[in-house]
Amino acid sequence: MNIAVLGSGGREHALAWKLAQSPMAGQVYVMPGNGGTAPNVPVDPMDFDAVGRACRERGVELLVVGPEDPLAAGIADHFAGSDIRVFGPCAAGARLEGSKAYAKDFMQRHGVATAAYRHFVGPAAARAYVEQNGGYCVVKFDGLAAGKGVFVCDDLPQAIEALAELERRYGADACTVVEERLLGNEISILGLTDGRAIALLQPSQDHKQLLDGDRGPNTGGMGAFCPVPAFDLAMLEQVRAAVVEPTLQGLRAEGIDYRGVIYFGIMMCADGPKLLEYNVRLGDPETEAVLPALASDLLELMLACLDGSVMLCTPQFRPGYVVDLVLASGGYPGSYPKGMAISGLDDTAPDVLVFHAGTRRDAQGQLVSSGGRVLNVVARGDTLDAAIARAYAAADRIHFDGVTTRGDIGRREWIRG
Ligand code: AMP
Ligand code: GLY
Repeated sequence: MNIAVLGSGGREHALAWKLAQSPMAGQVYVMPGNGGTAPNVPVDPMDFDAVGRACRERGVELLVVGPEDPLAAGIADHFAGSDIRVFGPCAAGARLEGSKAYAKDFMQRHGVATAAYRHFVGPAAARAYVEQNGGYCVVKFDGLAAGKGVFVCDDLPQAIEALAELERRYGADACTVVEERLLGNEISILGLTDGRAIALLQPSQDHKQLLDGDRGPNTGGMGAFCPVPAFDLAMLEQVRAAVVEPTLQGLRAEGIDYRGVIYFGIMMCADGPKLLEYNVRLGDPETEAVLPALASDLLELMLACLDGSVMLCTPQFRPGYVVDLVLASGGYPGSYPKGMAISGLDDTAPDVLVFHAGTRRDAQGQLVSSGGRVLNVVARGDTLDAAIARAYAAADRIHFDGVTTRGDIGRREWIRG
């Protein structure tokens, strides 16, 4: 079966790598891909007619959608009933990520544990609410904001400024959500579902801030690892009961035929797990750690989602731990130079994986940087410490001008239990 992975980041490189290992996989194309993926097809993921033509010309039967934008714009609905099967939810399902107000109302309707909240049309209405209730809260833009729409506020001036920023960016009638601010430890739980059963992957953790100790500006994610030692089976059962099962029941109750990934962004609080957000796609950089940790055939799992037989699947995992370090451009997440020559990739140990994100080949065929997050260096170990040591040793051999990494991926205190 020929497959196309839609997208161009490290997540899509990892998806193509894992899918190609299936005995059922034919050619695995990446559309449009990056400097590390092949074969690439230069097509805009939002131009569904062009994607359809590119797939049909190559006999692609399965389209695996990486990012959220094409899902929110209805790519699964566009190809429904056609000769191209799409792994990824329909637009109605993708609203769980596309609108935070919708997602919160869905959680409330179906008893999914989450922070208390109110939503507002217009930052002015929200301002009156935070003035009454104090500024220790979280202010969120309702729509897709590429990770830049959430403000965790300590006090009233910060909350007022967050609302002012949303008004500057999105206008006076921008929809906002104001949430109770939770305290706890964050964990990412990703699963593949046919809308009835779900095959959960190993729990993982992202590192969103740029600097060690979770300081500095938010990024797309500076590294991830899995599994999380402190996250035991009892916690997983709590998450299933409080978040995962009510979500699946809610989707069914609302008649949403959801076939794809659900990513649960969870806060483990003193009084149990609470859902911070849904994503309707695999997380990046979590994917670059959880797919190498998965022993089962990913293609088989995806087809089970489309066929409605996830109930029969029990994903298996490799023993040990996997760590993914992101090598970013100097200046990221602000402005950064592009076109920096990348060296040292030929030196990586045979058991280390490098998934490309912001890379391309220049006219001479030399690999150069082309984005904020450039490479993911992924290593396995029998212990988390061994995996961390291997990943950093491998990253040390790779160079481009301005290369930036966090020094403490996998080193938060609580994860050790
Ligand atoms: P979201 O995009 O909704 O996951 O929010 C991005 C980040 O903001 C999360 O990963 C958390 O670190 C933080 N956050 C979101 N909601 C809350 C909340 N209710 N309480 C505390 N932190 C939050
Ligand atoms: N790692 C967070 C995300 O993909 O949204």
